[in-house]
Amino acid sequence: MEKHFITDTLDRPLRDLRISVIDRCNFRCSYCMPKEIFGDDYPFMPESELLSFEEILRLAEPFTKLGAEKIRITGGEPLMRKNLAILIEQLSALDGVRDIGLTTNGVYLVKQAKALQEAGLHRVNVSLDAIDEKIFQTMNGRNVKPQAVLNGIDAALAAGLQVKVNMVVKKGVNDGQIRPMAEYCKEKGITLRFIEYMDVGQTNGWNFSEVATKKEMYEKLTHISPLIPVEKAYFGEVASRYRYKDSDVEVGFISSVSDAFCSSCTRARISADGKLYTCLFAESGHDLRGFLRNGASTEELEKYLTSIWISRNDRYSEERTEETVKNRKKIEMSYIGG
Ligand code: GTP
Ligand code: 5AD
Ligand code: SF4
Ligand code: SF4
Repeated sequence: MEKHFITDTLDRPLRDLRISVIDRCNFRCSYCMPKEIFGDDYPFMPESELLSFEEILRLAEPFTKLGAEKIRITGGEPLMRKNLAILIEQLSALDGVRDIGLTTNGVYLVKQAKALQEAGLHRVNVSLDAIDEKIFQTMNGRNVKPQAVLNGIDAALAAGLQVKVNMVVKKGVNDGQIRPMAEYCKEKGITLRFIEYMDVGQTNGWNFSEVATKKEMYEKLTHISPLIPVEKAYFGEVASRYRYKDSDVEVGFISSVSDAFCSSCTRARISADGKLYTCLFAESGHDLRGFLRNGASTEELEKYLTSIWISRNDRYSEERTEETVKNRKKIEMSYIGG
């Protein structure tokens, strides 16, 4: 396949494609889909709005030509999308796709991990914010016990998938869980990544006072063992990684608030209804589905994507101010998949 590598106005290549396959979720995490807002009458997308698998493939192809080699499937909760393994199988057959990952809350892995691995999935990032039952049940808004997620993690490991755990830390809510979570994951040999609570969307009532910074979290871990920095695995990796001095297990921090990483942001995102967003904090997207459904050819799509990427100048986390936090009409995390 002939590749046409492109860079944006800040010299950032296009490397990763994050595809949201559904905007629904079985959880109601307070920082993502607060249950007071995402209630029974919330207008989720009807099935006709979702990109079909065929449409997703038609879009993914020109992205790979332009340099995307990593694909990450997100939601909402992506395992709620029917027949997801079929999509994974089709994507993994695409020329130029080197890595396929999935970000999930883990509950449905018990049923689906094996089929996903057989379809070509390599890795899952499983969200788990606490090992304490009460804290986790409150945070996920649906009373789900941590054991349901831990079973999902075990199923993924047994199926041969690489597993990382994502923990969003909210001060005063689950910062007391940093150490127990770290100890649990260290014991199991799983990489845990601590994520600074971000001001995504407009519904989570974000406030800087609730952010546990990387520095604060790092301090807590040094009581377990000193940490040794580990080189980034690739350009644009979002986590800064460390290894416990007394083991091979790694731990990471995703510090989009206290130490932004926009200068190496290589990610394009497609929402489940086919809009392209060039930043997690964007106000609007580009309607790829409309373009497709109007009969655009793959060449036309490639041209359109090129024109969008080469004019990209997003760097929200580096520009964040009180004003942008309050007044920017940002898309919801459950809509764009993180
Ligand atoms: P790996 O390929 O395993 O490194 O995946 P990842 O960390 O890129 O993806 P994941 O879905 O696990 O995301 C982890 C956290 O990083 C989530 O909270 C995401 O919202 C956040 N994140 C990922 N990419 C970006 C980004 O470009 N900007 C910001 N601000 N946060 C991001
Ligand atoms: N801040 C930081 N991370 C978040 N996630 C969801 N909402 C937020 C937020 N407000 C995380 C999820 C999941 C990933 C896709 O993004 O926990 O791990
Ligand atoms: Fe669902 Fe993930 Fe959002 Fe929690 S963070 S509500 S699991 S999409
Ligand atoms: Fe990329 Fe936007 Fe995140 Fe910066 S804030 S790293 S530009 S997605």
